[in-house]
Amino acid sequence: MTDIDVTDLLVEAPLPALRLLAEAIDREFVRRQPADSTPFEYAAAQLGVDPTDLVVLEECPELAVTHAVGHWLHEAQARWGLDPVGSVPAGPAMTQSIPGAAGDVRGYAAVSVLLPAGTLGAVPVVARIAPHRFGPDVQLIGRAADNAVLPELFESFLRTCRAESPYRRGAYRVVVSDAGLLLQRWTGRAATRDHLKLDPSVWHTVDRRVHRVIDLADDLAARGLGTSTGLLLVGPPGTGKTQLGTVVAHELAGRATVLVPDTTVTEHSLTDLFELASDLSPSLVLMDDLDLIVGERGETNPHRLREFLNVMDGGLADRSGVVVIASTNDHRKIDKAARRSSRFDTVIKMEAPGVEGRLAILQRYLAWSNADLDLPAVARATDGATGADLKELVRATVLETSDAVTTAALLAQARAGGWREPKPAAGQYL
Ligand SMILES: Nc1ncnc2c1ncn2[C@@H]1O[C@H](COP(=O)(O)OP(=O)(O)OP(=O)(O)O)[C@@H](O)[C@H]1O
Ligand SMILES: [Mg+2]
Repeated sequence: MTDIDVTDLLVEAPLPALRLLAEAIDREFVRRQPADSTPFEYAAAQLGVDPTDLVVLEECPELAVTHAVGHWLHEAQARWGLDPVGSVPAGPAMTQSIPGAAGDVRGYAAVSVLLPAGTLGAVPVVARIAPHRFGPDVQLIGRAADNAVLPELFESFLRTCRAESPYRRGAYRVVVSDAGLLLQRWTGRAATRDHLKLDPSVWHTVDRRVHRVIDLADDLAARGLGTSTGLLLVGPPGTGKTQLGTVVAHELAGRATVLVPDTTVTEHSLTDLFELASDLSPSLVLMDDLDLIVGERGETNPHRLREFLNVMDGGLADRSGVVVIASTNDHRKIDKAARRSSRFDTVIKMEAPGVEGRLAILQRYLAWSNADLDLPAVARATDGATGADLKELVRATVLETSDAVTTAALLAQARAGGWREPKPAAGQYL
């Protein structure tokens, strides 16, 4: 009996179909014999052993982790002058660009490379990235004689690559791809606290619950204290909830990884998202319009709600340095369980501003004007207006008066008061 190994099966399996196809188009079917060695024959030759004396350890980690592995190997190649080939040895090693926190970097997408003894560990291994349609595999191929130390070496290899991930402390939009979650660089509109006029108590809470937690993540984790928090922003449309998240994201630039998930991610890949967040910690996850995901039980997909609660509960509690800022129009739509203290331990109410708040917002949007304006009067005339309404009021006045803004024109817009009409809350279209 002859031995059949997996590579033979891969080569043999499509043959009948190819034969049929050749017949159908009236061509002769000729099978070319692969002249080159298989990845395992290559690894065996590099390690100086027989292919039957190999141990292959394999994982299919999150895409971001594989990218980190590819980047680490690329750096290792430059550091030690290694000589890599493709994931199939006949092909060249392939690199790709990775949008790292400190700019684009290169990493291997498909590669086999010998890491001699003394580089990764005490024993030599061949590291391999083998791309597949549903996500690349990372392999560490070693000698059977070194079997005792290889699993630990593989673990520490992946740990090192994760720790040195080029994505760490960058800002990313997270989208779903065939191969898993993909990170695309996120810039968000430039925004500072100066732009967003909120009650000082809001910023005080943000400082305590977000900035301090991120800064002390390692300390808190070392003392066994929870280092993950959830901040829930509750308020009507236009009160600055999304903008607050953007401001905090900018403030944390370079200190934490910022992840802004697409709705498909929040709908289908929450567990993976939080694994990614904890992998790249300290991190901030911005989840806008939470009620679209976690509405009242019965209204929302119960599976999604359960997943969300599990992730927030077990997952977040064990993970260090993951802060979530979520927003909703109507906290009653957020299931009670999701509001329980361990999940969102801080709730910030974002109401329409009072008269002083309105004045500050008007001053902010009219700071460019040197006309003598009675803004306190406009603030008094705009009861119930949100920040977004006031911004729109100023914009409408500018358009109306061709830039020659006057108190009377502002007051006329205030009387028209478009914001007084009831508007649907963003979370109600489920
Ligand atoms: N307090 C404020 N100071 C200055 N600008 C504000 C304030 N509140 C809202 N705005 C402006 O209004 C616009 C809308 O704000 P934002 O998108 O953050 O509202 P939101 O609360 O997320 O609304 P929604 O619930 O509809 O998503 C932004 O351009 C923002 O800058
Ligand atoms: Mg919003």
